[in-house]
Amino acid sequence: MIPLVTAAGLTKKYGDLVAVAGIAFEIHEGECFGFLGPNGAGKTTTVRMIHCVSPVTSGTLTVGGLPAGIDNRALKMMTGVIPQEINLDNDLTVQENLVVFARFFDIGRKEARARIAELLRFVELEAKSGSKISELSTGMKRRLLIARALINRPRLIVADEPTTGLDPQARHLIWQRLRQLKSQGTTLVLTTQYMEEAQQLCDRIVVMYQGKILKEGIPAKLVEDEIGREVVEIRIPPEEDGKVLAELSAFPCTHERVGDTLYFYCRDGHALMRKLIELDLPNTLNRPATLEDVFLKLTGRSLHE
Ligand SMILES: Nc1ncnc2c1ncn2[C@@H]1O[C@H](COP(=O)(O)OP(=O)(O)OP(=O)(O)O)[C@@H](O)[C@H]1O
Ligand SMILES: [Mg+2]
Repeated sequence: MIPLVTAAGLTKKYGDLVAVAGIAFEIHEGECFGFLGPNGAGKTTTVRMIHCVSPVTSGTLTVGGLPAGIDNRALKMMTGVIPQEINLDNDLTVQENLVVFARFFDIGRKEARARIAELLRFVELEAKSGSKISELSTGMKRRLLIARALINRPRLIVADEPTTGLDPQARHLIWQRLRQLKSQGTTLVLTTQYMEEAQQLCDRIVVMYQGKILKEGIPAKLVEDEIGREVVEIRIPPEEDGKVLAELSAFPCTHERVGDTLYFYCRDGHALMRKLIELDLPNTLNRPATLEDVFLKLTGRSLHE
């Protein structure tokens, strides 16, 4: 695997605030690499340095073998950006928004027309070509951001929380399109607060929290290694933990108390559930382990607190 992006000791400070605290990662050509973390983790700050709109405070960051920097036009030419904020031009139509970007990349008029038609088909917005941005739903706007990011046929796409605020159907359409791009060989850098999104799209992820990377790996393997296969949640007051833990000591599970819940991480949750039913404990739940559990275990809080 050839790394397309490499970072070492990557740091970003805003005055005294350390938004990214000396992180290291490698993003391989052709993979989907995810930054999973809650609000304020430093995801946007990191990807803004990757697509060269925010200068690095210290450390090294290279993209396609070149040092990332705000004056690096060569890198901007090979990158497509789907920003977290919907920054479309409301005074222009769908088509015109794309034309402006084509001009920025010096794409000739005829070629731009052809690409725009193809891209609007790709994101299923052909019928909206002449519409004003205000006439679009949020899902349509997010799809238009994808089309806009593709106008320069980028090798690398940076998608910063591409489905925030969307309903499941709109989210699935975007996931399909991002997967399609990946299958065509495009490298994807994704940030997300949704563990499901990370599990659906990413080959590898880093778990980010307070400017640092806590863990890195293949989503399913991270879950398997850190948690196991299943989680049993028991909602009891903390003062009852001792009694319940004594009853369950024979089970090969690890456990953790977070907030109002006692979590058991097990290979087989069913046996534990049978015992809980025997003990007549209400408010119990057995479910597959997820990346949310990994985050909870690493930080003691949930992704959406
Ligand atoms: N331009 C800025 N000036 C000062 N502080 C900033 C700036 N941009 C981000 N920060 C701070 O840096 C930290 C990381 O913010 P960042 O936007 O990278 O987080 P994030 O992981 O993208 O969060 P979210 O999921 O909410 O988008 C936060 O504490 C934020 O307040
Ligand atoms: Mg962000």
